[in-house]
Amino acid sequence: MSGQGAQGGWAGPFPAACTPPAPPGYLSSVFFPFPAVGKAFCFLLQFVFFNKGLVCRRRVPAWCVPASACPLPGLMPFPGHGGEVVPTQCPLDGSTGLRPVSQSPGTRARAMEADPPVLATVGVGDLVLLDPLSEESLLSNLRERFLHKEIYTYIGNVVISVNPYCPLPIYSAEMVEQYCNGNFYALKPHIYAIAEDAYSSLRDRDRDQCILITGESGAGKTEASKLVMSYVAAVCSKGAEVTKVKEQLLQSNPVLEAFGNAKTIRNNNSSRFGKYMDVEFDFKGEPLGGLISNYLLEKSRVVQHVKNERNFHIFYQLLAGASDPLLKRLKLQRDCRHHGYLGDEDPRLPGMDDATNFQAVQDAMRIIGFSEAEVTQLLEVTAVVLKLGDLQLSSQFQASGMEACGIQNMQVLRDICELIGLRESVLEQALCSRTMEAKQEKVVTALSVAQGYFGRDALAKNIYSRLFDWLVTRINESIQVTTGERRKVMGVLDIYGFEIVKDNSFEQFIINYCNEKLQQIFILMTLKEEQEEYFREGIAWTPVTFFDNGIICDLIESGKGGILALLDEECLRPGTVSPATFLAKLDQAFGNHKHYESRKSQSDRRITDTSLPSTCFRVHHYAGKVTYNATGFIEKNMDQLYRGLAQAMWQAKHTLLRSLFPDGDPKKASLKMPPTAGFQFKASISTLMKNLYSKNPNYIRCIKPNESQAPGLFTDELVRNQVRYLGLLENVRVRRAGYAYRQPYQPCLERYRLLSTHTWPRWAGTARDGVQALFSDLDILPEELAYGHTKVFIRTPRTLFDLEERRRRQVEELATLIQKTYRGWRCRTQYQLMRKSQILISAWFRGHVQKKRYQHTKRAVLLIQACARGWKSRRLLRELKHQKRCHQAAAIISAYWKGYKTRKEYTKYFRSGAMARLANFIYRRLLQKFFLGLKNNLPPLTVSDRSWPPAPYRFLANANEELKTIFYHWKCKKYRDQLSLEKRAALQTKLCASELFKGKKARYGPSVPEPFQGDYVGLQKNPKYQKLQAAAQGKLVLADAVRKVNQANGKMTPQLLLLTKEHVILADPKATQPKVVISLSDIRATSVTRFSDGLLVLHLKEQTGTGGTKGDVLLVSDHVIEVVTRLHQALLETTRQALNLQIADQFSTQFKKSSIAVTVVQGPKGHLGPVCKKKGKKMEVLVC
Ligand SMILES: Nc1ncnc2c1ncn2[C@@H]1O[C@H](COP(=O)(O)OP(=O)(O)OP(=O)(O)O)[C@@H](O)[C@H]1O
Ligand SMILES: [Mg+2]
Repeated sequence: MSGQGAQGGWAGPFPAACTPPAPPGYLSSVFFPFPAVGKAFCFLLQFVFFNKGLVCRRRVPAWCVPASACPLPGLMPFPGHGGEVVPTQCPLDGSTGLRPVSQSPGTRARAMEADPPVLATVGVGDLVLLDPLSEESLLSNLRERFLHKEIYTYIGNVVISVNPYCPLPIYSAEMVEQYCNGNFYALKPHIYAIAEDAYSSLRDRDRDQCILITGESGAGKTEASKLVMSYVAAVCSKGAEVTKVKEQLLQSNPVLEAFGNAKTIRNNNSSRFGKYMDVEFDFKGEPLGGLISNYLLEKSRVVQHVKNERNFHIFYQLLAGASDPLLKRLKLQRDCRHHGYLGDEDPRLPGMDDATNFQAVQDAMRIIGFSEAEVTQLLEVTAVVLKLGDLQLSSQFQASGMEACGIQNMQVLRDICELIGLRESVLEQALCSRTMEAKQEKVVTALSVAQGYFGRDALAKNIYSRLFDWLVTRINESIQVTTGERRKVMGVLDIYGFEIVKDNSFEQFIINYCNEKLQQIFILMTLKEEQEEYFREGIAWTPVTFFDNGIICDLIESGKGGILALLDEECLRPGTVSPATFLAKLDQAFGNHKHYESRKSQSDRRITDTSLPSTCFRVHHYAGKVTYNATGFIEKNMDQLYRGLAQAMWQAKHTLLRSLFPDGDPKKASLKMPPTAGFQFKASISTLMKNLYSKNPNYIRCIKPNESQAPGLFTDELVRNQVRYLGLLENVRVRRAGYAYRQPYQPCLERYRLLSTHTWPRWAGTARDGVQALFSDLDILPEELAYGHTKVFIRTPRTLFDLEERRRRQVEELATLIQKTYRGWRCRTQYQLMRKSQILISAWFRGHVQKKRYQHTKRAVLLIQACARGWKSRRLLRELKHQKRCHQAAAIISAYWKGYKTRKEYTKYFRSGAMARLANFIYRRLLQKFFLGLKNNLPPLTVSDRSWPPAPYRFLANANEELKTIFYHWKCKKYRDQLSLEKRAALQTKLCASELFKGKKARYGPSVPEPFQGDYVGLQKNPKYQKLQAAAQGKLVLADAVRKVNQANGKMTPQLLLLTKEHVILADPKATQPKVVISLSDIRATSVTRFSDGLLVLHLKEQTGTGGTKGDVLLVSDHVIEVVTRLHQALLETTRQALNLQIADQFSTQFKKSSIAVTVVQGPKGHLGPVCKKKGKKMEVLVC
């Protein structure tokens, strides 16, 4: 693998434990202040950082493996270790893990020595070890192995895979496990080994990888690529997100195979497109997503395929697998023979179930993330392609006599238009005529039937190839990585294999050109570059000859005048172009080229080969001579689609179909020629090559053992041919003669310096001297090594393996040392920390205990002190109290004594009646105090307020009551004094009324608030009553309108009552003349009822002759109280006699000399005024 040498890495697959060296002194300077531990730790960290894979998966210290990670009790959790495990506790964090029961490295190495599978299998596993080396021995080795079902053989790190054409039990999960962590040389050759090598190199060494799978059509490239992908998917981690990504990546295969693979004579599942898939990983080696690039689909197959081949799988899968309703909706017939593009033959293939595959494709699309609508639209467009093949054109003649074509089966056209949502006339016109634009003029020309078919097929091919491109883009949308994190890439290239068919056309030319380029990469990287390196490095080297196919690549792709450039020239040239003109051009350019042949160039060389027709040319490819038919090259290269058809597709309502033809948008129409197919392919291949060169290549060279796809059949000639053109023999020779591995001195020294005490831990000299010293110390045979100018070369892989094994052992020992030192350091540090903590804690604790004890004692002392002080204080207090009492007692005694003495002395000088005087004095003082208090506390002067302060001493209670009464009377007097004469007279009248009626007549209560007016008829003011005024003679007391009861019948008549100081006058209100005049002295008595009526009886004296009455006078007045009161006052004033007032319910009255018994009865509630009923000598008065 010389290419790697150039990049400064090892040129071979490494066991996973082989890690690149750390940058010198990188971490030791920055790490840890403790020199010894730091040094050891730096090493550990270098080890960890540059062996991420080890950290991630397998080289973690065994005791750090959690028990849960172990699949079975007693077994190591990681494959490749083998042996038993014991539960162990991790000294770092105390977690329980599993530790393998020690299997010394020596034991492992011996085990491998004893059974080196590369050597000990059928034949030789690595052709580098083949002896003798010849084409024949190589062939027979491959044959022997193939017949024993050993299909993989190495040439160093290149894997040769011979297609077994039958399933082999070597791709199981157990095999994946074996190769996952196994040693490249410790296991049988297998495709998994190269996949593991590429993956671990990508993950652990951070190098982008590409896996180049080459070989003829049917050699097993696609299968190999799937095996690589499935291996990588199986070994990377199993998280939900990762699993989804893996599923999506893997499921892209069935979808792309359905649309891009077809049965050919060579291969039932031949890839008809090139595929390069970049799988992207994160730094842990977990897949993040991917990106697929596709290269030139063989779209001519859509419209035509040779006998015994098939169109693309998807058509057959759709017809076989779709349900009846779906087929009906897509307007398809289940029988393939009904569809023009699928041919007449039986489409069934042994071992391939189209219906099941259709289901698988649909499931895969769903897993990738296609929506239901997208799947439906995809199938609709696929159906449209099929339906286009069913369109029949027929010849029609126009009026001008020119031939034109027309649609023969309009129903098919209708079906297509219905499927894509387009008007029939638009599609019909686009299929049968061609519109050309020139100088802003549109010229519509009718197409001939042949042109019509050409247009139809071009449309079908275009739809299909654009659909395929869309499919790839859509898958990429789902699997593409959107995060911006740094990624590592593993590219897997599965491109159509070299092929020679009966009628080789443009497609085969392109396919074979691509294979030439891949062969070139191989030659450049494995043969040429490697040998050149030996020269550069000054290593003694006998050149190995090999065929360099650069000349063929130049012939095809040279920008100045390669076949593709000439073809483009011919396509773009104005004037008539034809296969003949193209051939002539080729003949002219390459007539003398070693790898080009045509009829013309042959005849120039006087050779006649009937197998080379005049329309063909032949290219001598690395893999054989291929005769290409120049017919169709120009059309296929131009890849023309009538603009009208593109525009018609753009007009369709079908979203997907419309999106496939953006060039159909009239606004974007350009008259510029689109780049040719050849040009595009060349450009994309050039990009691919650059991409591949930038990655570390891994080769899988597939060999096809027979032409009949039969298992167990090994056709020597066929394989010999492939061995030859693949340059396998040269490959082996270069590897055998050369050195298996190389590496620049500095990284080599960094990697292995730990193996020698001369170079470990530090080497002071140059790197080259260091490497020489190192290897001489390691006793490696001199013939195994070669020292170049900048690199050291190691001849056999075994030496390298031995070196790696020693390194691994040394690393384990160093790791143990680091662990030991680290654990010691950690335990020490932890101990010291614990000790410090313990001292601190105990100091704190002791302090705390002492503090508590002190506080306790203090509290006790304070309590005792308090008690003692209290006791003392109380005692003192008692004493003081006692003293005080003694003093008081003494004072009292002395006071009494003094008093006694003073009194004794005093009585000598004062009268004996002093006591009574003192008492009198005190009494008067008290009275004085009482009166002064009263004076200051006199109640308000309001008449209605009868409040009075209570007597302060009981002996003053009577006096106080007297004073209260006096005060009240005095208040009343004061009140009366301030009244006017009228008011006083009115009040006297009211007082008089009270004396007469209070508590005796019901009417009295309501009359109290009513003021006595005296004149109720306006007698004084009304001139009408002049005569009455005269009769009153200025002595009027009262004038009122009353009713007079007729004692004869009890009826009442209104009367005016005038009361003067001498008379009672009754007058007719109308006549206004006194009618009855009664002298006051004639009134014997007056009767009123106790009710609230106004009945008033004036009992007259019997001998009365005044007035004109026939007896007593019965009056009803509304002011009876006032009338009676004033009558009483007038009588008192005039006669000095009080009125004889009777308040009774029964009384008798005098009428015409007889008496009438009047009974007063209270009427029902609401009864108004007195009503008199006379019955004989009785009168009943109903009152209110
Ligand atoms: N490892 C294998 N084990 C069993 N069968 C295999 C293996 N590899 C290939 N085959 C068989 O060979 C057939 C052809 O293989 P494959 O499709 O991979 O060829 P190819 O090289 O990709 O061809 P083309 O270039 O035409 O695409 C497969 O369909 C399968 O039947
Ligand atoms: Mg293939």
